[in-house]
Amino acid sequence: MSDTAAVPPRLHRFTPQALLGASGVLWFSIAAAGQWLFAYYIIGAYVPRTATGEFERWNETGLIDGYAQGDLIGNLGFISHVLLAAFVSVSGVMQLLPIVRRRFPTFHRWNGRAYMSVAVFLAVGGILLVWVRGTRMNDLAALGTTIDGLLILVTAGFTLRHAIARRIDQHRRWAMRLFVVVNGVWFVRVGYMAWAIASGGAGMSRSLNGPADILMPYAAFLVPLVLLEFYMRARDSRSSGFKLAVTGAIALGAGITALGLFGAWMMMWSPNIAY
Ligand code: HEM
Repeated sequence: MSDTAAVPPRLHRFTPQALLGASGVLWFSIAAAGQWLFAYYIIGAYVPRTATGEFERWNETGLIDGYAQGDLIGNLGFISHVLLAAFVSVSGVMQLLPIVRRRFPTFHRWNGRAYMSVAVFLAVGGILLVWVRGTRMNDLAALGTTIDGLLILVTAGFTLRHAIARRIDQHRRWAMRLFVVVNGVWFVRVGYMAWAIASGGAGMSRSLNGPADILMPYAAFLVPLVLLEFYMRARDSRSSGFKLAVTGAIALGAGITALGLFGAWMMMWSPNIAY
């Protein structure tokens, strides 16, 4: 008799592999909802103010530069960056949904091309905003976001290369890494709010130059990337202990994401939706 035959059928659901998968689904569901809330905020905050020509009202969301009188190129760079950010926040989630991948392969291919092109545009545009327009509170924090932007370019390259070569497993792994780094700026906001709520604002300052403010742009892509690597290795591993440890870490990550999301929605996003 095999080992599994001795286990009552209902308990099969609670194997370490199933629990690990469930923790991934839990995190992804919270993140997907959060991505779409972020897109909803971007559209609600910037589309009405742009459509009515009240460009100076972009700055009501609490920006560093945003709209600047007389800086046509900078203003166009800013608003194209922001509006396309809404697109990646919606399309990235669609791209990773297994049901969309399986049932609508043509959509997956075209959405993937659009997602990657827009992500590259956002990364390059963001880096130019920081270092050419000079939109930064301090160099160290800006360097963190810049590294995230460079990682977007690297991971997009690998995702595309493996897709063209039909190495589907490698393509899927790089696509998940791309998803994580494209969401680096989203993780900054969510991480910032989770930390602010949990610690009461320790290491944070109004001018964004406290230790927590400077570390957050680095943690925002490093922690999710490390957790993703552990998740992928645990899925391939035969060790139940390793699977359960990673399940715990991902579940904790899901809780922190939910907390940060709640804070971001309440304090950063919903108050700035224009109408
Ligand atoms: C690829 C994913 C990215 C998304 C989804 C994204 C999203 C956004 C959003 C929504 C804003 C408007 C600010 C707000 O209302 O919260 C913004 C502004 C900005 N982003 Fe990005 N961004 C991305 C990548 C980057 C990168 C890689 C950099 C820099 C290296 C960057 C630099 C900036 C700058 C400088 C601003 C202007 C902020 C201001 O004027 O105060 N972004 N971004």
